[in-house]
Amino acid sequence: MNLLTFDTHAKLHESGAGIITGLVQTNPRAVLGLATGGTPIGIYEEIVKSYQRGVVRFRDTTTFNLDEYVGLPEDHAESYRNYMNMHLFNHVDLPRAQAHIPDGNAADAQAECAHYDKLLEQAGQIDLQLLGLGHNGHIGFNEPDHALISGTHIVELREETRKANARFFDSMEQVPSHALTMGVGTILKAKMILLVVKGEDKAEIVHRALTGPITTDCPASLLQTHPHLVVLMDSEAGRLFQ
Ligand code: GLP
Repeated sequence: MNLLTFDTHAKLHESGAGIITGLVQTNPRAVLGLATGGTPIGIYEEIVKSYQRGVVRFRDTTTFNLDEYVGLPEDHAESYRNYMNMHLFNHVDLPRAQAHIPDGNAADAQAECAHYDKLLEQAGQIDLQLLGLGHNGHIGFNEPDHALISGTHIVELREETRKANARFFDSMEQVPSHALTMGVGTILKAKMILLVVKGEDKAEIVHRALTGPITTDCPASLLQTHPHLVVLMDSEAGRLFQ
């Protein structure tokens, strides 16, 4: 596990973007696992800047997002499809057919999950999986539970997760109750995992996840078992490691 702490967000974002664009420069056919939430926005901004400077291209790259809300129209401001369009896909040359996100409006959610796993299997191993961290230790939308599911599945969001994400919606009632998420098995199969954590409010959970017991009560704790985990933190989130 390689832990890196940064004293400014600018340095953290540049480093995160540099790891991702470096991979695509050396392997244009890379398969990237992408994340949403507030945390990676600055990293996507830096990736777009690199693309605009002409130092990286995404024509041959394939991406798989971790998760999507159930029941939000694709063009809803807070759908993860819209998030990805706004922060990355609209600004780079990644062909849309190669940019995969689970369809939260599929009539048959189980079939959509099986289809997503099929696409993942066809793409081969994810080369790099970008991850944020939920306040309760969730990764993707894999919530703390007595057991975790390996493949893509439908999940009922925990109250604390809906509350945390309510800041992006007009009211708590508008936050969807369910989501589709890649499972922890798929996440852990990635060749490299890039976990990004920012803010004092994540200091305890990231410390517990990376140094505490490995338990399904804290899904991110399973990342301790990964052979190639890189963690980027700001100094607030990394406070307990010093
Ligand atoms: C969300 C997403 C996760 C994200 C996490 C943290 O619910 N499903 O993929 O990593 O919660 O979000 P944020 O970066 O906004 O704190």
